[in-house]
Amino acid sequence: MAIAIYPGSFDPVHFGHLDIIERASTHYDTLIVATIRNPQKAQQLFELDEREEMIREVTAHLSNIKVEFFKGLLVDFARDHDVRAIVKSLRAVSDFDYELQMAQMNHRLSGIDTFFMPTSPQYSFLSSSLVREVARFGGDVSSMVPTVVAQRLKERFAK
Ligand code: PNS
Repeated sequence: MAIAIYPGSFDPVHFGHLDIIERASTHYDTLIVATIRNPQKAQQLFELDEREEMIREVTAHLSNIKVEFFKGLLVDFARDHDVRAIVKSLRAVSDFDYELQMAQMNHRLSGIDTFFMPTSPQYSFLSSSLVREVARFGGDVSSMVPTVVAQRLKERFAK
């Protein structure tokens, strides 16, 4: 059984992520969407359980998705879950340097390969941090995130 993992902060999940999840899930028996509290990203908007809940809701139409969170090294989590492949998305060339470095490090640590998927062009400008910023100032994010996520953002910034 081919199990892959798609890791990220997903704070919050947006249409660019969902596009990758939908496309990647067709290539593997199971795709684990794994959320992490990334210590390199100081500003977290949603708690891990909220992010997981949103991912579960927006992937409910896909039968081979598991949603998990992990702490520590991605490759340790991957090994514990019998994962054969790490899926990462590339929005633009600017993503490549860091992603390549992580892929090489993860391979050195575990032998697990990373498979890069290009983001669909209509989503290449999207990032969770920009979505948070637009929503924080009352901008319309309805074309960028699923309805349940837009609603959560609205509630969060109404306070
Ligand atoms: O959505 P993000 O924040 O860009 O995702 C980055 C993530 C979570 C995939 C990366 O930071 C990660 O894998 N963190 C886990 C810790 C780890 O394994 N670090 C070594 C990476 S080579």
